[in-house]
Amino acid sequence: MRAISHLAVAITFVCTVCALPTTTNTTNPTLYVSHYDGHIYTLALDTVERSLTLAGSLKACGDMPSWLTYDSAGRTLYCVDESGFNASIGNGTLSSFIVSGNGTLSQTAKVTTLPGGVASVIYNDIDGRNYLAIAHYQGSAVSNFALPISDDSTALQTFEFTLPGPPTVPSRQDAAHPHETFIDPKGEYVLVSDLGSDRIRIFTIDKARGELSQCDAFAVKGGNGPRHGAWWTTGLDENTVLYISNELANTVSTYKVTYGDSCLVLEEDGEIVPYPKDIPSNATMAEVHVFDDKDVYVSLRNDQAFPPSDSIAFLQASTTDGSLALNNLTTSYGKTPRTFVVNKAGTLLAIGNEASSDVAIVERNPKTGALGSLVAQLQFGAQGTPGQEDGLSSVIWAE
Ligand SMILES: *[C@@H]1O[C@H](CO)[C@@H](O)[C@H](O)[C@H]1NC(C)=O
Ligand SMILES: *[C@@H]1O[C@H](CO)[C@@H](O)[C@H](O)[C@H]1NC(C)=O
Ligand SMILES: *[C@@H]1O[C@H](CO)[C@@H](O)[C@H](O)[C@H]1NC(C)=O
Ligand SMILES: *[C@@H]1O[C@H](CO)[C@@H](O)[C@H](O)[C@H]1NC(C)=O
Ligand SMILES: *[C@@H]1O[C@H](CO)[C@@H](O)[C@H](O)[C@H]1NC(C)=O
Ligand SMILES: *[C@@H]1O[C@H](CO)[C@@H](O)[C@H](O)[C@H]1NC(C)=O
Repeated sequence: MRAISHLAVAITFVCTVCALPTTTNTTNPTLYVSHYDGHIYTLALDTVERSLTLAGSLKACGDMPSWLTYDSAGRTLYCVDESGFNASIGNGTLSSFIVSGNGTLSQTAKVTTLPGGVASVIYNDIDGRNYLAIAHYQGSAVSNFALPISDDSTALQTFEFTLPGPPTVPSRQDAAHPHETFIDPKGEYVLVSDLGSDRIRIFTIDKARGELSQCDAFAVKGGNGPRHGAWWTTGLDENTVLYISNELANTVSTYKVTYGDSCLVLEEDGEIVPYPKDIPSNATMAEVHVFDDKDVYVSLRNDQAFPPSDSIAFLQASTTDGSLALNNLTTSYGKTPRTFVVNKAGTLLAIGNEASSDVAIVERNPKTGALGSLVAQLQFGAQGTPGQEDGLSSVIWAE
């Protein structure tokens, strides 16, 4: 691919903190951020000094870097690109980067994909080989690649989806729009929350060959607009619950999960509006994450609960059946919290605010799950506009 040789030259890492921490240093963890301004940013957190600094930036991952997935064992970062999202012009891309001991990134490959990549997840086969499944929002599709990719890799499979019938919210549900690919707690299935068609799509993983095969899609309530998923489990098959954050309905749905003979079976088990009053009409829910099978967090873009900032809702999951109750809202320390992630130790939450283009690191009490004070915050990259695809797109801890 022509673009690669020129990219190889462009991979000069701008290093402002030249003693970059290793990715295993818990005092000084590294975070990576994708941004619709066409960059991947590297941030260095110092938990003692309570400072967050820009350690580097790399122009890579196409015109609209939208999502990062980190393979910690292979020290490889994957980035998908949402190009093709508007006017259906252009294709998305998938790029891979090796993370060196000091945290710098070196691009190893870039391939063209279907349009509009917005999320990806790694799954593996019985021999430990890895694969990546990508959700293509604008492409109305899911594709998968065998890892590692090289410049001439092509998709192993592609699945394109159409609307099953007239949509409930025509302005957003003009076509199938897969928004996330994620795996079940046992690593046997890839699930896809399809915002456009109000479906949870379920694929079994062929553990011998890494291929996916499609089960019947699960229809959710019309107009929900399922965006992201997260799991609660006590470790027993019969005690598994799936939460879905619904971008259009601004609810979190709970589904009881059964491991059937040939497929995962979902059963509706209620929903909650994670808000102490009527949710503001401008709000659009984004991510949902579960920690310790009891603490559930949801990001609420553009609710302006803490002007000029939006909020993160903290919910408690029942330890017996996973049902949800709202605790409270806390500030997201910026506008449009598209993305957030808890570190492995459960002590810090990194919030990525899309429109204000900042990352805020917030303390998390590992016992109660409550979010506490701000540890550090950094604004960098081009700021965006609420509702547009033009600011910070995803943040991850490299651990
Ligand atoms: C980081 O590691 C890479 C690869 O080992 C090396 O090329 C680069 O010079 C190092 N950068 C710094 C700032 O130490
Ligand atoms: C983590 O980084 C800090 C600052 O660079 C350093 O003092 C400390 O020794 C490192 N810890 C480990 C376990 O590498
Ligand atoms: C698509 O949107 C991106 C980000 O908003 C913008 O940079 C790009 O110019 C747009 N492309 C087209 C063809 O409209
Ligand atoms: C690029 O996008 C077009 C239009 O959606 C699609 O038909 C084609 O397969 C894509 N190319 C690749 C390599 O995925
Ligand atoms: C809702 O969003 C619109 C468009 O961005 C803005 O003009 C309006 O002030 C917002 N309303 C509230 C209550 O924030
Ligand atoms: C949120 O709720 C938790 C647990 O109930 C509590 O510990 C914390 O202080 C609350 N935070 C705020 C800002 O209300």
